Amino acid sequence: MASVRARLTTAYAFALFCTIVAFAIVLVIARRASAYRELDEHVKAQAAAVLDVISDAERAGVPLAVGPDTLSGSLVAPQLYKKLEGIGDYVLVLDPSGRALYLSFEAQRLSDDDRVTLQQAVLQARLNGPATFVTLDSDRVLLLARPDPQGEKVARVAAGASARAAEAAPGSLAGTMLALMPLFLLLSIAGAYMISGRVFRPVELIINEVEAITDGRSLHRRLPADGDNDELGRLSNTLNAMIARLETSFGGLRRFTADASHELKTPLTVLRTDVERAMNPRVGHNEQLIALEEALQETTRMADLVDSLLTLARADEGRFELATEPVHLESLAREVFETAVILGEDAGLEVSLPVIEDAVVMGDRTRLRQLFLNLITNAIKYTPRGGRVEVALSRRIDEVTFTVRDTGIGIAAGDLPYIFERFWRADRARSRRPVTEGGSAERGGFGLGLAIAQYIAQAHGGTLTAQSRLGRGSVFTVTLPFAEEMAGDASPATGGTG
Ligand SMILES: Nc1ncnc2c1ncn2[C@@H]1O[C@H](COP(=O)(O)OP(=O)(O)OP(=O)(O)O)[C@@H](O)[C@H]1O
Ligand SMILES: [Mg+2]
Repeated sequence: MASVRARLTTAYAFALFCTIVAFAIVLVIARRASAYRELDEHVKAQAAAVLDVISDAERAGVPLAVGPDTLSGSLVAPQLYKKLEGIGDYVLVLDPSGRALYLSFEAQRLSDDDRVTLQQAVLQARLNGPATFVTLDSDRVLLLARPDPQGEKVARVAAGASARAAEAAPGSLAGTMLALMPLFLLLSIAGAYMISGRVFRPVELIINEVEAITDGRSLHRRLPADGDNDELGRLSNTLNAMIARLETSFGGLRRFTADASHELKTPLTVLRTDVERAMNPRVGHNEQLIALEEALQETTRMADLVDSLLTLARADEGRFELATEPVHLESLAREVFETAVILGEDAGLEVSLPVIEDAVVMGDRTRLRQLFLNLITNAIKYTPRGGRVEVALSRRIDEVTFTVRDTGIGIAAGDLPYIFERFWRADRARSRRPVTEGGSAERGGFGLGLAIAQYIAQAHGGTLTAQSRLGRGSVFTVTLPFAEEMAGDASPATGGTG
């Protein structure tokens, strides 16, 4: 594949070639037309001159026909002959019977055949008509015949000029152009090649820079953008924006991997310590059982983490499939509320369900349960003893909202934008503080719950939003699109379509 530079130069050369050829054709045609026009005018002037000479002679009473002159072979008087002689190439003066009174030197020089042809042409020519071409063996002549107005002795005169020169002129012009064209083309192509090289140098620079940047470790670097608003300037800016996005997503990926490894490392360390303790022959049987129990909890915790990571990985890949069916949210809300009551009792919280309305949405019941439970466990986890947690399910015009309100520690306004990010926790030290005595919640969460919850809400065409005030409490609201129309006939319909 030829380089763009070579292709551009070829295209330019081709265009130039076509232009030159077209120009040459136009020039030749124009030159030809003007040569014929000049010839035509020349012949007209000659004919007029001949008529002038003859009418002058007639007015002055000079005898026109004097009989054959031995020297010139002409029938006109010698003083007339002299004047006619100076006029031009082919001049003929005929008397009414068609006899040639005068033939110019050029006409006399013709072969007998040619001379007869020429004389015939003069006789047949339309008087006062336009000039016509007469083809002789030795020449091509543009001939114009005119009548003599007084004509007693002279009937018609004719003037002619060779068309050879006019015919040859455009040809020689074309020849010159053809001869010069290769040189001209060569110079232009060399010029074009040089210019396109200069144009493409910045592109090459950009290619080299991008190659250097995208080797993976230099994503912080940017292409020099000199503020030019031309195509190359815009290309640089676009590439810079792309590299910036790459840098962000690479960074995100790196952080995610680092966080995930870190979160897995902690339970592994604990697990190892527990197992070592359980295997220690010097510790008592009871203590061994406690260590084993802790190890079991740690395993559950790890399994939870891996499960969450898998969910998010599937979501990223777009392989997060929802087993969609009509879900009666009222029963689901009651179910999670019961769990909340049990968890709340353990944590010393008062859990209530002030509003509950029936509503049906199209969704995945298991995932919706996971979403609601994530919000409820958060509310319980981040609300100190003696606080209150309120769960509510209410209908709006075309949507359903599920709300979890708590009187807990709240979230600082500055932190609110980050809570849905993976592995984000308001204060890692604080969230690792034991919340309940003993149990798996000892070291706080992973910071994945809200990310998953938000993903589930969005996968259902809904939203998850948070409002909070530090030290006062938080409200998390899930909004899901309503499917009330389908509620009545949805079950048989989905059953029918599979
Ligand atoms: N109801 C709440 N009150 C106060 N802070 C909250 C509340 N819900 C979430 N947060 C803050 O948002 C952070 C992220 O919550 P998220 O549910 O994603 O993670 P987590 O609860 O720490 O861990 P897990 O992955 O186990 O859910 C929490 O660590 C906490 O700091
Ligand atoms: Mg959570």
